[in-house]
Amino acid sequence: MDMIIAVTGTPGVGKTTVSKLLAERLNYDYVNLRDYALKNGLGEMKGDELELDVDELTETFAREFRDRNVVADSHLAHHMPADIVVVLRAHPRLIGERLKARGYSKEKVGENVEAELVDVILVEAIDKNENVIEVDTTGKTPEEVVEEILGLLGRGVKRRVGIVDWSGTYDEIIPYLRL
Ligand SMILES: Nc1ncnc2c1ncn2[C@@H]1O[C@H](COP(=O)(O)OP(=O)(O)O)[C@@H](O)[C@H]1O
Ligand SMILES: [Mg+2]
Repeated sequence: MDMIIAVTGTPGVGKTTVSKLLAERLNYDYVNLRDYALKNGLGEMKGDELELDVDELTETFAREFRDRNVVADSHLAHHMPADIVVVLRAHPRLIGERLKARGYSKEKVGENVEAELVDVILVEAIDKNENVIEVDTTGKTPEEVVEEILGLLGRGVKRRVGIVDWSGTYDEIIPYLRL
């Protein structure tokens, strides 16, 4: 049976690390949607950011991967026609620390910490797909996260949402916010 697994979440949450490991464990193909878009001449570079037409990406991706086993990695992955969407979550402070270490601007760090705080990607994912599994990566290794995903898939769980609430972290993450 062919299956498209979309791994999404706020930048820095661990998508690429987890997706590669998950694809390896399942013996699925791994596709980073940014690389895929660039390779297929989709989107336009605006400065150092790739501006993508999500509908165009979705159509191209669907045509190529409809009948394949694939793990799709991107903060846009939940827009793809997936059998299951995995939304990775992490304490907003971790997002802030990782993106700062990546050299992101204060503005970009703030934008993403805020997005994680208020569940932006989760809400989008739920809006797009019935089958959404949320996984909290905080305090776990990538291997543990992959085990958790495999366990849920193995038990046939197709929806598990509402497992984190970062509102209580607000005081801790004020330094990262654009106030
Ligand atoms: N449980 C975890 N799951 C995924 N990544 C983790 C975890 N714990 C720590 N990390 C680290 O967090 C970083 C996540 O980076 P990356 O996978 O590139 O995120 P993304 O693709 O979402 O931007 C990596 O350095 C990874 O080693
Ligand atoms: Mg990545």
